[in-house]
Amino acid sequence: MKKLVVLTGAGMSAESGISTFRDAGGLWERYPVEQVATPEGYAANPELVINFYNERRKQLLDVKPNRGHELLAEMEKDYDVTIITQNVDNLHERAGSSNVIHLHGELTKVTSSRHPNDPKCIRTLRPEEYEVKMGDKAADGSQLRPFIVWFGEAVPMIETAIDCVEQADIFVIIGTSLNVYPAAGLLNYVPQGVPVYLIDPKEVAVNSMRKVHVIRKGASEGVAELKALLEESGSVGK
Ligand code: APR
Repeated sequence: MKKLVVLTGAGMSAESGISTFRDAGGLWERYPVEQVATPEGYAANPELVINFYNERRKQLLDVKPNRGHELLAEMEKDYDVTIITQNVDNLHERAGSSNVIHLHGELTKVTSSRHPNDPKCIRTLRPEEYEVKMGDKAADGSQLRPFIVWFGEAVPMIETAIDCVEQADIFVIIGTSLNVYPAAGLLNYVPQGVPVYLIDPKEVAVNSMRKVHVIRKGASEGVAELKALLEESGSVGK
């Protein structure tokens, strides 16, 4: 089966009702990034940060995967699919995708505020635990913090993602403004000759000389169109 590698961003979850970051009315228009998405912000006011992620985590109980998520999961029948996502929601998994790499962490997980990437301290919250409080401790006794990669922090999964992109037979970008590195740089690791598709209702500045097949649509319609295009081009099977 051909390896289909998909890089997704906040736009993938927009049709599920989750705000993007940089669209009008987006998350960063309503919250100061420095306060809620940096280690300095967390150090200055951990309670404010913990509550910011509590709200986003609890929202997961009110939203569901959209048709775009479902179609990507269905494509596992015909392709060896890996989703590399910048999103911290669990909608790809809930739609049935079985290979999901989270570059920026996961809302459903919490960890140590002393050693955030210590596997002994990372754990998945049950829905009834979605409200983290000051005083909740990680395995190492430190305050429990969201298992989210904040600006300026290491992106431990980037090597895994690069290895995956280097094996791609087809590369697809969905719902990301390609503003944030190293995620946005993954396009540079796509082998020459591998087709690149980009699904977004708006123009995206692609910082690369590569030819990109743009599908100027939202995720649900765009993935449906991509699926048909790939079938027509005989990419299925083999
Ligand atoms: N379908 C597909 N794409 C959409 C849709 C939709 N229905 N609606 C909006 N988009 C597109 C926007 O046009 C934009 O290009 O989704 C993209 C969202 O871009 P951003 O808000 O910048 O989100 P993203 O690229 O995922 O941000 C990357 O920045 O803030 C950090 O860590 C955070 O992971 C995030 C990273």
